[in-house]
Amino acid sequence: MGRKLQVAVVLFDGVAVLDAIAPYECLQLLPNVEVVFVAHKIGSFKDTFGYLSVNSTHTFQDITHPDILVVPGGLGIKNLLKDEAVLEWIEQVDNNTLYTTAVGSGSLLLAETGLLTGISATTHWSVKEALEKHGVKLSDDRVVQEGKIITAAGPTSAIEMGLKLAALVTSEEFAKSVQLILEYDPQVMYGTGSTTKAGPEVTAKATTLLYANELRASNH
Ligand SMILES: *[C@@H]1O[C@H](CO)[C@@H](O)[C@H](O)[C@H]1NC(C)=O
Ligand SMILES: *[C@@H]1O[C@H](CO)[C@@H](O)[C@H](O)[C@H]1NC(C)=O
Repeated sequence: MGRKLQVAVVLFDGVAVLDAIAPYECLQLLPNVEVVFVAHKIGSFKDTFGYLSVNSTHTFQDITHPDILVVPGGLGIKNLLKDEAVLEWIEQVDNNTLYTTAVGSGSLLLAETGLLTGISATTHWSVKEALEKHGVKLSDDRVVQEGKIITAAGPTSAIEMGLKLAALVTSEEFAKSVQLILEYDPQVMYGTGSTTKAGPEVTAKATTLLYANELRASNH
């Protein structure tokens, strides 16, 4: 087997770890893939709540030709949206990726570079309006592929995106094994997993909870 395909997952303070870790869990299992975690510096980054840390393995300078780019979401994504160095890095590496992907609000960063303009994409329900302002055709699907751009909705859909990528870069046979290893066999609990299904009352409650957490995290 030749060179391994390199998957670069972007890290930052305030990352929604499941967005970053679900694709890692799916892809690192594959024999022809290695996953790296990239950020401005090598070191630790705090999750959305501020209690869990994850470490980057490389800096943006180190990683110039990833085969797959994964941009996770999370409250901290807002600090990257005006970060010229990161935006430029994304534009540059996208020129050579097989797939450029985002999970949840990570799609806002791809949109900021113009990569999502005029195409179909999805994102976490809480930032759909923000994404639409970038001229994106919003989709209600959990995972959306337009050419080499793949976007996933919330954190749980990152598993589905990971499985899709596994099938695309290795084979469906491997993707099926990965699904079993993760025992991804969801028995949906309450049927409130999308705003459409949840309805306005649950959506309002969830929004309140989300913003209360955002406030706590920013004071942490
Ligand atoms: C993660 O980064 C922190 C701080 O930058 C460092 O102290 C720690 O040793 C790193 N952990 C690993 C496992 O590399
Ligand atoms: C990416 O490729 C496009 C078209 O081939 C080119 O115009 C652009 O300069 C490249 N961008 C970077 C950052 O290398």
